[in-house]
Amino acid sequence: DWTIESFIELQVAEIRAKVGKKHVLCALSGGVDSSVAAALVHRAVGNQLTCVFVDHGFMRKNEAEQVRKVFTEQFQLNLVFVDVHERFMQKLQGVSEPELKRKAIGNEFIRVFEDEALKLGQVDFLVQGTLYPDIVESGTDTAETIKSHHNVGGLPEDIQFELIEPLRMLFKDEVRELGIELGMSEEIVWRQPFPGPGLAIRILGEVTREKLDILREADAVIIEEIRRAGMYRELWQSFAVLPSIKSVGVMGDSRTYEFPIILRAVTSEDAMTADWARLPYDLLESISSRLVNEVQGVNRVVYDITSKPPGTIEWE
Ligand code: XMP
Repeated sequence: DWTIESFIELQVAEIRAKVGKKHVLCALSGGVDSSVAAALVHRAVGNQLTCVFVDHGFMRKNEAEQVRKVFTEQFQLNLVFVDVHERFMQKLQGVSEPELKRKAIGNEFIRVFEDEALKLGQVDFLVQGTLYPDIVESGTDTAETIKSHHNVGGLPEDIQFELIEPLRMLFKDEVRELGIELGMSEEIVWRQPFPGPGLAIRILGEVTREKLDILREADAVIIEEIRRAGMYRELWQSFAVLPSIKSVGVMGDSRTYEFPIILRAVTSEDAMTADWARLPYDLLESISSRLVNEVQGVNRVVYDITSKPPGTIEWE
């Protein structure tokens, strides 16, 4: 009979046999899959595993810090935490086209990860949080898996390593169950998908520090309200988008000229199609008033009522 406990036991044995005394590297994204994969491999080989977390500065509020805490304090695994905000902001200067942004971020990510991997010396294995559906229906971009047909983790081609994909037989709900069994919190295990380029592709057009700060705060408010309403898990994603336009409003006696926030919330099974979420009016109301009152630089809120297709989930 298949149980999560027996799965862990089997995987741990298999990973140990495969790795022996060699060294394992893992790119932590902060997402559920890479986090659970890292925790499982850590259970098997302890400090023969090193995780690298590249903090590009486009994570959600407190997310990078939470990853650092969970993996260093709770799991006590070797974590190389690289804070490269400045580098990424510089690379994005003057870049406003969505695919160019993705490319700039992707390339820089690979460069940073590669530098860190080289510093570690000999690496024999690379952990990937590939799930069963990723293998079956390859070709689509899921939120947090670095696809095997990409140049995985961007290691230079002359470095040879073998892949460890301990989640390759699992579906998402099983990964969550596994994460809980390994001691991860509900909060981490039930996190909504988040794109690799992060908040950078939720700022339409050029990314600036000002817009990034506004978007991060707005996103945190939205997530808080969605959680408070008990809807966080049933939504595939719920987040803020910041367009690079301003509109006129009025606050007290004065005219304002500030950014709107676009609220996006969808239900979906696999991100291939999605339906805009029928959020209760009261929830929309509390999100709207909190955004305008609490997030400086925001004076208007609009709700995206486009499904996928024809819209995509993200705006870029
Ligand atoms: P779209 O916007 O294409 O998104 O409907 C489908 C799913 O993929 C996520 N997404 C990305 N994930 N890198 C990622 O890792 C990306 O560049 C990217 N773009 C979109 C999106 O959040 C949604 O879950």
